[in-house]
Amino acid sequence: MPHAVHGQPESRRRASDKATKTTARNKKTNSSLQQQYENLRTMFDDSLLSTSLAASLRAKVITSRSPITRAVSLGLGSFAERSKDQPRRLKQLAMFMAAAAQINALQATTGGPQLELFAQDPTFTKPDISFLTSLGIRVLKTPSPSEMGEAQSYIDPNTLVYSPFLTIEAYEALLSACSVNLLLGDDFQALKRKFDKNTSDHHLVDRLGKTHMAGLERRSLTGSGFWDAAEDQPFPMALYWKREVAARTSKL
Ligand SMILES: C[S@@+](CC[C@H](N)C(=O)[O-])C[C@H]1O[C@@H](n2cnc3c(N)ncnc32)[C@H](O)[C@@H]1O
Repeated sequence: MPHAVHGQPESRRRASDKATKTTARNKKTNSSLQQQYENLRTMFDDSLLSTSLAASLRAKVITSRSPITRAVSLGLGSFAERSKDQPRRLKQLAMFMAAAAQINALQATTGGPQLELFAQDPTFTKPDISFLTSLGIRVLKTPSPSEMGEAQSYIDPNTLVYSPFLTIEAYEALLSACSVNLLLGDDFQALKRKFDKNTSDHHLVDRLGKTHMAGLERRSLTGSGFWDAAEDQPFPMALYWKREVAARTSKL
């Protein structure tokens, strides 16, 4: 017969203790992530990379006839657990939020909309989702890495797709399923050079580049002050966008 404490059966008391401990742990994780995230946002905003990104985004926004309405992050990876990848992934998250803030500021000058934010990665854990939600990001799901899943419904020509260090398999799914007009992610030229010439990855990146990226404007993103630590192991990034014929405004 299970022990009863204060009229509660032992099993229910244990479950309630476990739930209390989990809630306390989640709160601690959230506040530690919040602190790290805020420091990284400040670091990004103070960096020359931020200046370079703002100039590139401005070039896109002023030539666009329709405003950007959503930002969808793909492949951030799990960042809630401490690991050697955690700092880089949190930096990628900080850069995503900074890019969205820069677009919001540019669009606000012409009364444009504020972006809706989304993120998808099949490896997100509950603490990741809880933290992303606290930042106003809605988490999307995919049944498998080789499919775009829910993100497919949210990516249209007015969406910023953010994909730092996404798998090539997922790039293939993204570029064949969605119409991508604005992408902030891996520099395809650097990505192609990363793989030996005779590998299938090299050929796949080459084909994706020629089929989907060739018609887009490209600016490689450089600038010190953010990706300077060797342990971040950052990968070259670029902004790609589809140039439109008529400019929306030249006032920005
Ligand atoms: C090479 S890892 C990079 C993770 C992280 N960006 C980093 O720098 O450590 C690629 C990530 O893409 C994610 N991924 C794979 N397929 C995906 C899909 N269909 N949608 C979103 N993310 C996907 C993987 O789960 C993985 O976290």
